[in-house]
Amino acid sequence: MRAVVYDGPRQVSVKDVPDARIESPTDVVVRITSTNICGSDLHMYEGRTDFEPGRWFGHENLGQVVEVGSGVDKVRVGDYVVLPFNVACGHCKNCERQLTNYCLTAQPEPAMAGAAYGFADMGPWAGGQAEFLRVPWGDFNCLRLGEDAAERQSDYVMLADIFPTGYHATELAGVQPGDQTVIYGAGPVGLMAALSATIRGASKVMVIDRHPDRLRLAESIGAIAIDDSQVDPVQVVLDETLGLGADNGCECVGYQAHEPDGEEQANLTMNRLIASVRFTGRIGNVGVFVPQDPGAADELAKQGKVALDYGMFWFKGQHIGSGQAPVKKYNRQLRDLIAGGKAEPSFIVSHELPLDEAPSAYEHFDNRDDGWTKVVLHPETTAV
Ligand SMILES: NC(=O)c1ccc[n+]([C@@H]2O[C@H](COP(=O)([O-])OP(=O)(O)OC[C@H]3O[C@@H](n4cnc5c(N)ncnc54)[C@H](O)[C@@H]3O)[C@@H](O)[C@H]2O)c1
Ligand SMILES: [Zn+2]
Ligand SMILES: [Zn+2]
Repeated sequence: MRAVVYDGPRQVSVKDVPDARIESPTDVVVRITSTNICGSDLHMYEGRTDFEPGRWFGHENLGQVVEVGSGVDKVRVGDYVVLPFNVACGHCKNCERQLTNYCLTAQPEPAMAGAAYGFADMGPWAGGQAEFLRVPWGDFNCLRLGEDAAERQSDYVMLADIFPTGYHATELAGVQPGDQTVIYGAGPVGLMAALSATIRGASKVMVIDRHPDRLRLAESIGAIAIDDSQVDPVQVVLDETLGLGADNGCECVGYQAHEPDGEEQANLTMNRLIASVRFTGRIGNVGVFVPQDPGAADELAKQGKVALDYGMFWFKGQHIGSGQAPVKKYNRQLRDLIAGGKAEPSFIVSHELPLDEAPSAYEHFDNRDDGWTKVVLHPETTAV
């Protein structure tokens, strides 16, 4: 089968790799029909993780089941399914508590927790930017879709990661009806957090970024767009909230946060959130931070350390929630919002392309080129 293979920093190519197949009775094999490129792929693509050359990416996957193992009860050949990016067993201590983001069985390293398809340090699982994907613990990991699955793939595929992740940011931030919520980052995750805050009834959603195309998308769902290349974003948030700060905030950028001129500063968004959120407010941090970052611009960041304004954070009595999103905790309800016409996460999709165009799509998305807000790859259009 063909897959988007990582060859080294900023180099991917589409080539033949061993076929996905049933390896355990609880496995399912899915023919991938939609698979997204994610901001998390870019950390790996840029060589800012220890993702191994020769492996392939793809953790935002949707497709049709083509084979099920002998131990699979519920999932049937022909079902359209969307797969949480977290690979999870369903029966470990963490999975039992809905913490599928920290599954202890799917992560082979005993000192670690959590696994994902095609991801650095998240277990051996192959990615889905390929024609087929092996899904372990198929009954647990497959979320089945309804009759509109094939036509509405560009909505449903967002259930694999970014819609639940954006929702998780608002859950960690405790967004309630009437709240004023600030979101740093208008990439796909930030835009999904803005959509989620709106679904939860926020009265005012403020989204900060510097890319006009992304800010326009935030405005298209009713958020206030704040361009931090033009204004001081913290001051604008204070002005919008009677000087008190937002009720809560979401960090949707991560360790490669930078100034509009490109200068990286890993603490930039977290410290701006501490300044933008009111006393006792909550902050949901889903943007990725890493324990080591040898490619970072400064010494502290190389060691995975972030100079947090902890004094102000403590003084204001704020809370931070962090980490990978437990997709399975939310994906069923969010699926039903899509099915019921209450949410249309595909509004961020800018490109739907065959797998062969992945190398140039990675380049454009990595450059945050104007108009490249979210890429959905359709491997079946390259199948022979
Ligand atoms: N926790 C999870 O489960 C989870 C899941 C998916 C993605 N992520 C992470 O979420 C983050 C965002 O993902 P994405 O796909 O939206 O990525 P992206 O890179 O496309 O978007 C990030 C956006 O942040 C903006 N940005 C950079 N510095 C900024 C600053 N100082 N202030 C405001 N905006 C700034 C960029 O201009 C960009 O538009 C990444 O770190 C990704 O790895 C986490
Ligand atoms: Zn993702
Ligand atoms: Zn588990």
